[in-house]
Amino acid sequence: MVESGLVNPLQAFERLAPEPDWAFRELTPRQTSYATHGYHRYPAKFIPQLAARLIEEYSSPGDLVVDPFMGSGTTLIEAKLMGRASLGVDVNPVAYLVARAKTQCIDPVHLEQALSRLCGQLMLTAPPIFFDAAPAWTYEKLQVAPIPGRNTSGWPSRLHYWFSSATLHQLAQIQKAIGTLEDEALRTFFYCTLSHILKPVSYWHDRSVKPTRRLEKPIPDARKLFCRHARQMAQGNREFWELLCQRKALETPAVPHRADARQLPLPDESATLIITSPPYVTSYEYADLHQLSALWFGWASNLREFREQFIGRSNGVRAVETRSGSPLAEHIVRQIGEVNSRKAREVALYFSEMRECFTEMLRVLVPKGHLCLVIGNTHLCGVEVKNAQVFAEQLHALGFAITRVILREIPSKILPRTRDKATGKFAKVSAADYIAYPTEYILIARKS
Ligand SMILES: C[S@@+](CC[C@H](N)C(=O)[O-])C[C@H]1O[C@@H](n2cnc3c(N)ncnc32)[C@H](O)[C@@H]1O
Repeated sequence: MVESGLVNPLQAFERLAPEPDWAFRELTPRQTSYATHGYHRYPAKFIPQLAARLIEEYSSPGDLVVDPFMGSGTTLIEAKLMGRASLGVDVNPVAYLVARAKTQCIDPVHLEQALSRLCGQLMLTAPPIFFDAAPAWTYEKLQVAPIPGRNTSGWPSRLHYWFSSATLHQLAQIQKAIGTLEDEALRTFFYCTLSHILKPVSYWHDRSVKPTRRLEKPIPDARKLFCRHARQMAQGNREFWELLCQRKALETPAVPHRADARQLPLPDESATLIITSPPYVTSYEYADLHQLSALWFGWASNLREFREQFIGRSNGVRAVETRSGSPLAEHIVRQIGEVNSRKAREVALYFSEMRECFTEMLRVLVPKGHLCLVIGNTHLCGVEVKNAQVFAEQLHALGFAITRVILREIPSKILPRTRDKATGKFAKVSAADYIAYPTEYILIARKS
């Protein structure tokens, strides 16, 4: 660990050694998915204990903790458990649904009654008679109640690409049953369950994070899987409820928003602490990974439009003026440009958009408020993309002091560890030629 208020922010990275107590090696999957953390898969989730430790060290009860790339809401849940108000933002509608479900806490008795009723009703429903050659499936035919923001134009054929007609009918039954629930918290809870089971009941290859189809995959009954997962989630809700009651934190606000990190819905100087893990450049195409939920719930009319909102995207990046504010970023972009001009454009845009996010974080932080960024470095086109060092330069130039840099090892069970060196994308262990993120940085900056 290096503590400083250095003139040259890159000095903070010299002679760093991994700090074993930040690796959380001893934690089991059960411990990292306690309470509501296990509701829904999400790529590059925080370890809750890591977020908790940063909250403990850099804030006090009653403070406002913010996560501008909240993903599945890990920071918000931990902040609530520790009696800090929190606000999170993500452009991804799937993140918004999952974070809403995970941060709300439902009276366990009320939830279990609703769960028994809903699953009783679903399991009684006769299996649908269907023919795969039947006319194209549409939402209208199944009379699924529309949910806010749904835009279904262009989607039905794509739904048939991923799901059998039998599964579509079962999913529609579930959706319809959820739509009849009057309590919004219950609907959110069960929509989250539904979103989580879309992958196992689709043709999406179970062992692939990428959208790969496996048509011979055995497809489980969606209603049974839904009820099984909802029961597991209900146990998580009970655990969350009991912890919050013990800590007298049931009423502590934790507010997810669907918004862009460059426009936080907060007044100037309102947040004491920002904890976040930004998107990685061209490695996770969040829009593609979450297309089943976006497709099912009708959150985007096509994949291209859906992708465009994400920072770190690798599809459809046009040549635009960029401003990184970091000499190191410019150097990295030039090096990549010698090999692949398209990739260079993507990286330049990524650093430029991240700079806009940091400007916004600076605006909302109180003076002397802290920003904790969890980020790993990677390789693209054979060039090392030193995200952490670039961020340190950008933050320093904007008026942050880099006060601490922690290097942590990532136990392999928590994050994918392999990358293809040329594309920078996650790859199978056997196919990869580079171990990705065996370590990552926690960059701590103070608003000066
Ligand atoms: C590394 S993930 C965060 C995971 C999170 N820490 C968790 O525990 O689940 C980064 C997130 O940034 C989001 N993101 C990408 N572009 C964004 C933008 N312009 N504004 C807000 N969020 C964005 C992605 O949707 C993704 O959820």
